[in-house]
Amino acid sequence: MIIDPWSSQKYEYEKLFETFGIERFDENIWKNLPNPPFFFRRNIVFGHRDFQRVSHAIGKNAPWAILTGLMPSGKMHLGHKIVIDQVIYYQSIGADITIAVADIESYATRGYSLKEAKKIAIEEYILNYIALGLKPCRIYFQSKNEMVKDLGYLLAKKANMSQVNAIYGFTGSTNMAHVFAPFIQTGDILHVQMEEYGGTRPTLVPVGADQDPHIRFCRDMADAHRLYSIIPKEGKVGVFIKNDEQVSELLDAAEAVVQKMGKVLERKDDYKALYIQVDDLFELDQKLARIEREYDGYGFVAPSSTYHRFISGLDGNKMSSSRPQHALFLTDPPEDVKKKLWAAKTGGAQSAEEQKKNGGKPEQCMIYELFTYGLMEDDNGLKEIYRQCREGELLCGHCKKRAYQLLEEFLNTLKEKREQAKDELKEYVE
Ligand code: TRP
Ligand code: SF4
Repeated sequence: MIIDPWSSQKYEYEKLFETFGIERFDENIWKNLPNPPFFFRRNIVFGHRDFQRVSHAIGKNAPWAILTGLMPSGKMHLGHKIVIDQVIYYQSIGADITIAVADIESYATRGYSLKEAKKIAIEEYILNYIALGLKPCRIYFQSKNEMVKDLGYLLAKKANMSQVNAIYGFTGSTNMAHVFAPFIQTGDILHVQMEEYGGTRPTLVPVGADQDPHIRFCRDMADAHRLYSIIPKEGKVGVFIKNDEQVSELLDAAEAVVQKMGKVLERKDDYKALYIQVDDLFELDQKLARIEREYDGYGFVAPSSTYHRFISGLDGNKMSSSRPQHALFLTDPPEDVKKKLWAAKTGGAQSAEEQKKNGGKPEQCMIYELFTYGLMEDDNGLKEIYRQCREGELLCGHCKKRAYQLLEEFLNTLKEKREQAKDELKEYVE
């Protein structure tokens, strides 16, 4: 199974754990974070790679970064909101936020010009991000960032055609700008660890599950360019020099680091190895990565990621701007919202009598899904809707009305805030 980040298929999330080694984002992972938000509590963020590196930094009050990207294409709908909800939460707990506008990717894979992409990014996405509560942070365009593009090119040295074809399923007729898009994305993710942008530190990339191929690829690239490899084994840790240059200098430097945080057990220059004992592998990894910069390495620690589920369209299929009648856009006027909600697929019975008798099926209901995705942030409120629906106390007409009222209020406020946001753009966009 290839997960194709450019297709619009729905994913069978369970398979991601077994097939691709994504780990479950369960309560144990998030319970120590401050005020766990609804998207954690409801398992909307359901998977991760290496999130522990980030929670370790949070626990130690050490710096860490968020880097995520937006693809300027179509209009912003409720499904796009979940990523910015996360960014806003992470900003509130101290993350340093950067957002990439993937205008090059949009040009290469969707056929937008850079000018069109810019207009869409600002009007549809960034204004909504600010209106939703994003505080000043760095938002840049791929096409305008030299470092991102340079890194994309330079890191590409350690990837080959077969490898990218295996990951992305490119064929002989894929345009080369498209082939290069994942490298630019790697540049996006890793450039925040360059000295100019905050230096080596844990970097979390919150994305939809479709983006996992890019994440795996980027993690591989980061590792491929490391000068040290760190391999824990039976309570000890082996630190190895991967190349043949400057081996004894690199071993010296590693030894100096280890002496401050643990014990050097043995050094074997002919194996290019240092065997050590340290408790904190994240710190070791980060300290060694920093040293690599002095030896012409890049010194990136592998980025961490989380994956969220996509909200369904109102007909039960994918929510997408290409099917506007089943998507809720953040700029929809109330009449449209009303029409779309009234036509939505619910878990209601054929008749009111039957529903009162047997109850509804919230699990299959798109209105209930809206509540789950943040329209009803309060867990008790949500549980109550669930119970009332199941027990036949609540009928769909009434329930839709309630959803409509909440949405109308939310969208009206958002509209006002979007107006104010126009004056604030310069505090965000590079
Ligand atoms: N490829 C992403 C998408 O299709 C957009 C993107 C570009 C991105 N660069 C990124 C996402 C860096 C996360 C991190 O939506
Ligand atoms: Fe969905 Fe509400 Fe109807 Fe239950 S009562 S099926 S939650 S619309």
